Amino acid sequence: MDYFGYQQNALFAEDCQVAELAKTHGTPLYIYSKATLERHWHAFNNAVANHPHLICYAVKANSNIAVLNVLARLGSGFDIVSGGELSRVIQAGGDPKKVVFSGVGKTVAEMEQALTVGIYCFNVESAAELEQLNTVAQRLGKVAPVSLRVNPDVDAGTHPYISTGLKENKFGISMEEAETVFARAASLAHLNVKGVDCHIGSQLTEIQPFLDAMDRMLALIDRLAENGINIEHFDVGGGLGVNYDQETPPHPDEYAAALLARLNNRPLTLIFEPGRAIAANAGIFVTQVLYLKENSDKRFAIVDGAMNDLIRPALYSAWQNIIPVQHTDAPTFAYDVVGPVCETGDFIGKNRQLAPQAGDYLAVRSSGAYGFTMASNYNSRPRAAEVMVDKQQHYVIRQRETVQQLWQGEQLLP
Ligand code: LLP
Repeated sequence: MDYFGYQQNALFAEDCQVAELAKTHGTPLYIYSKATLERHWHAFNNAVANHPHLICYAVKANSNIAVLNVLARLGSGFDIVSGGELSRVIQAGGDPKKVVFSGVGKTVAEMEQALTVGIYCFNVESAAELEQLNTVAQRLGKVAPVSLRVNPDVDAGTHPYISTGLKENKFGISMEEAETVFARAASLAHLNVKGVDCHIGSQLTEIQPFLDAMDRMLALIDRLAENGINIEHFDVGGGLGVNYDQETPPHPDEYAAALLARLNNRPLTLIFEPGRAIAANAGIFVTQVLYLKENSDKRFAIVDGAMNDLIRPALYSAWQNIIPVQHTDAPTFAYDVVGPVCETGDFIGKNRQLAPQAGDYLAVRSSGAYGFTMASNYNSRPRAAEVMVDKQQHYVIRQRETVQQLWQGEQLLP
């Protein structure tokens, strides 16, 4: 459930009229709903309310400091994958003690930064990283809290680019090696083994792959306990899907209940790393129709938003709903909604039944996750502005980039 909807044919974000926001702030424009972000976070948190847990929102989904701040105020933790994301969390008022640090390529500088601020846990992804972390912690006179990311080798049944739990993926340590690497971790003086983690992929719409992964991970945790390595927490990763089209992903209640049933009263704290499930449907991307164009067998709506602003359709053939900001009863036709970037792959949607006119605004739903965070300046296009609505109020949470900012840091030869 989200707080975007029509009132008398005009699209609203909470109590703000989307067309007004687009007129005031220009397009392309990202609009987020605070109430939706909060609702989705609570849905997760309440789903596991009676079991020790921590919700660590995956910052990569939407890292605007206002978004992070809204979640930090609810008491959220954060899943980060870089020193930049850690700095954002701190800048946004997030608690570093509720941060888990994932990613296969942490640098020494990032390890130092995270050890200095005192994060909750490093999700270590290889034996080599483990040795490096121990060395860095020793140099700083610290003990690093660690979890090992184990690859459970399950097929998440999602797009290959966002599937991460198979052997062939670069992520995590294989199940065969896991016990050896855990034993090594336990023997190193500057590491404290706290957890086990996995993340099998994103946009999962079935519970079964999560349960398959959990069964394998719990069996590992039991084997580790037999060998004197006691695990405090199990980080199940993120990946719960959302409704873009006809998908029917499980509600967090259903998902958490299934996981808790498998946990079978083991005294493990559960950590969740949801990104998309919290942010995707809390945002829309608004773009204006520049021109209509027709040839013998196609109609195009050329809009001012492009693949540099929202790359999911181009990169994953992702389908996101495109709706008019002002609904009319005019007859609809199949349009390809395309941007100004000089690439054939620059489309927002294909074959969409719409009745656009030049000057109309279109809203691309489910754009709150992996939208702005994946934006680039390709074709020297300044990045879009971001606005957050809170009931009838709205706030610019990121100004539109200026053209001058595009070459900031660049330098002519003498
Ligand atoms: N934890 C880890 C270790 C991850 O790698 C990810 C996402 C998450 C949590 C959050 O997953 P979520 O709950 O959002 O599914 N750009 C792609 C998605 C890439 C996801 C990468 N990892 C897209 O736009 O579909």
